[in-house]
Amino acid sequence: METRTALVTGAAQGLGQEFAVALAGRGYRVAGLDLVPQRETAGRILDYLELVADVTDEEAVRAELERVVDQFGTLHVVVNNAGVYPSKPFEETTAEDWRRVMRVNLEAPFLVTQAALPYLKAAGWGRVVNIASAAVFTAPPTMVPYVASKMGLIGFTRALAAALAPHGITVNAIAPTMVRTATAERTVGADGGFASVRAGQAVDRTQEPADLVSTLLYVVDEGSGFLTGQTLNVSGGSAYL
Ligand SMILES: NC(=O)c1ccc[n+]([C@@H]2O[C@H](COP(=O)([O-])OP(=O)(O)OC[C@H]3O[C@@H](n4cnc5c(N)ncnc54)[C@H](O)[C@@H]3O)[C@@H](O)[C@H]2O)c1
Repeated sequence: METRTALVTGAAQGLGQEFAVALAGRGYRVAGLDLVPQRETAGRILDYLELVADVTDEEAVRAELERVVDQFGTLHVVVNNAGVYPSKPFEETTAEDWRRVMRVNLEAPFLVTQAALPYLKAAGWGRVVNIASAAVFTAPPTMVPYVASKMGLIGFTRALAAALAPHGITVNAIAPTMVRTATAERTVGADGGFASVRAGQAVDRTQEPADLVSTLLYVVDEGSGFLTGQTLNVSGGSAYL
């Protein structure tokens, strides 16, 4: 089998870094796209292509995707992982807060996937993986724009799966529960957030980034061509469809 190429957005840290490292470990050539340089990720992956751009910037996204194909020749897997999850009371949420969450979490996966599409079609095989959230099931009251954006991402996943199936491209979403990343620890995990989420889980421990890796590798697997339009709920039994 030819060597596959993967692009992971938000690869500087957290889940994105874990996904990039896991794909490299499976033999993928990996490019990461983030707002910030990705020194730590680059240090963990041989031949890592580090791309610095804002995923909401349509022109920049197109230019960076061209760089992936210039360097690696192909593109097969897109992991739309970059995301923001501010927590704020609904009445204090401004229209600008709302727009920012929607642009990063929902519009950017559209921009990145559309820019990647010519390359996935040329490869005749593709996997698009969108990182949603189990918050769409648990609906925390201080994350209204976030839940709306991730629910939108699930709708995007479903409809895009139908649109891209004729090209041999699957589109799926993964919905983690609260995961111990630096950003989650600093924000939603502060003030006992991890403990309260854990209390609602069947699995009595906090989810770690490594807990999502086997699901990602399953979704992108050669043998997973019949799995499309789905949301895989990896939440330790805390949320049910
Ligand atoms: N950590 C959790 O508890 C949790 C739970 C469920 C879902 N998720 C989802 O998983 C994904 C990753 O979460 P995380 O905790 O690893 O986050 P994180 O903050 O650790 O990492 C996100 C990365 O995305 C990058 N990023 C943010 N905005 C960007 C932009 N406009 N352009 C390019 N890059 C940008 C950041 O620089 C950062 O490196 C997000 O989509 C998040 O919503 C996280």
